[in-house]
Amino acid sequence: MSMTAGEAVNPLRDPRDRRLPRVAGPCGLVLFGVTGDLSRKKLMPAIYDLANRGLLPPGFALVGFARRDWADEDFAQVVHDAVKQYARTPFREEVWDQLADGFRFVPGEFDDNEAFDTLAQTIQDLDRVRGTGGNHAFYLSIPPRFFPVVIGQLKRSGLSVSDPTAWRRVVIEKPFGHDLRSARELNDMLSEVFPPESVFRIDHYLGKETVQNILALRFANTLFEPLWNRSYVDHVQITMAEDIGIGGRAGYYDGIGAARDVIQNHLLQLLALTAMEEPVSFDAQSLRMEKTKVLSAVRIPTDLAAHTARGQYGGGWQGGEKVCGYLEEQGIPPTSATETFAAVKLEVDTRRWAGVPFYLRAGKRLGRRVTEVALVFQRAPHLPFSATATEELGENALVIRIQPDEGVTMRFGSKVPGTSMEVRDVNMDFAYGESFTESSPEAYERLLLDVLLGDPPLFPRHEEVELSWEILDPIEEFWATQGQPEQYRSGGWGPPSANAMLARDGRSWRRP
Ligand code: BG6
Repeated sequence: MSMTAGEAVNPLRDPRDRRLPRVAGPCGLVLFGVTGDLSRKKLMPAIYDLANRGLLPPGFALVGFARRDWADEDFAQVVHDAVKQYARTPFREEVWDQLADGFRFVPGEFDDNEAFDTLAQTIQDLDRVRGTGGNHAFYLSIPPRFFPVVIGQLKRSGLSVSDPTAWRRVVIEKPFGHDLRSARELNDMLSEVFPPESVFRIDHYLGKETVQNILALRFANTLFEPLWNRSYVDHVQITMAEDIGIGGRAGYYDGIGAARDVIQNHLLQLLALTAMEEPVSFDAQSLRMEKTKVLSAVRIPTDLAAHTARGQYGGGWQGGEKVCGYLEEQGIPPTSATETFAAVKLEVDTRRWAGVPFYLRAGKRLGRRVTEVALVFQRAPHLPFSATATEELGENALVIRIQPDEGVTMRFGSKVPGTSMEVRDVNMDFAYGESFTESSPEAYERLLLDVLLGDPPLFPRHEEVELSWEILDPIEEFWATQGQPEQYRSGGWGPPSANAMLARDGRSWRRP
């Protein structure tokens, strides 16, 4: 069964203007970290895709800054290769030519004053020749240890200063600190140079269509809201399973682990959107206010040994290939205690959710790649059937499939065709691929466009980051006293302790 889609409704836009494309005004983007994976695989292709969709201004400028002895043409070649390999939309020469005309490259080290003076000069020239109007965003796709020096340089060279006619914005990628203390330090440093409205923190999950659809599902319908509370929901499971290992990211990942990498940000944002009250509007302030309320109401269990689980992948088979364990990965110390799987039980102390556990789990090298939010409902208070008729009846569930098979599933019991009464679970599905002809933009397309438009609802503000660390810090501190995480088999579903954690509550993890 499938839902038929009428007109696509973007819940974050004023209905009066939803038919007008949102096109960025005159502006440019300066990219630090042009040689990194994120730039090549996501940012450069997203810029091209935006240009291809006609959403960038004709004079858009892209400046790369890196410690490379490149001319503008070398930089253009790097972007070209990235676009050819990773862009979502077809390659069109005329779009490319117009875009590439606005490419510049500034070689230099982050602590080189002269290089930043050249950058300032390059931007001024672009304002003149490309009409970028003094509007520039600085995207720091670099390891956080370099943030202070780059932010300091932007201040020193006067590049950070907006004026009433021209804006300057800074974009930072997670991790936003390593714990509450370092997140505060990072924020203090940023706010000395940029006002809060000029700081855009990227949590790319918020740029995903399916994540924004949580708001549409909840607040554009009457069907779900009456059930969306402790009277009907037994518990909520939020899963982010990846089949990949850490790849070449040992330097970033080791010492960080699954909880800091994705629970602190992506999964807690999913929890906030699932549990929050209806905002008065979808403007940044109202949305963030509701998310902040939920995050401040999150309570961690007192018995962390019973209600959290940690694991580290061992070797195994995945997709028909033999894969090595975490400790054998290149660049990982053989004694590393970094977790590649983390599960936590949280509660949300509000009238709506009191007593309803939210189980969050995230892991690498699991059975398959899937991210979902599942609301599992209480069983019917009475079943007027013979016991054998309902042997195969599970719990009703509403599953928001974030990726890769984007959509929503409702699971409920139905009579099995035949002469006797037998009830079994069935699924009713909405799939993006079947219901819409438009394909979903990549999260980074949406978020980059929002940065250039100065549209902040999809960017977490500092309070949310702090609250998320307040939730995670005690758990991390506890784990730090627990030695090595439990090993789990690559290609499986995590360590036995994760199953035991739910079994203790009389529940079990969904097998997505
Ligand atoms: C990133 C994490 O934020 O999200 C990575 O740092 C993870 O470890 C990635 O692989 C997953 O993103 P997506 O969009 O593929 O779910």
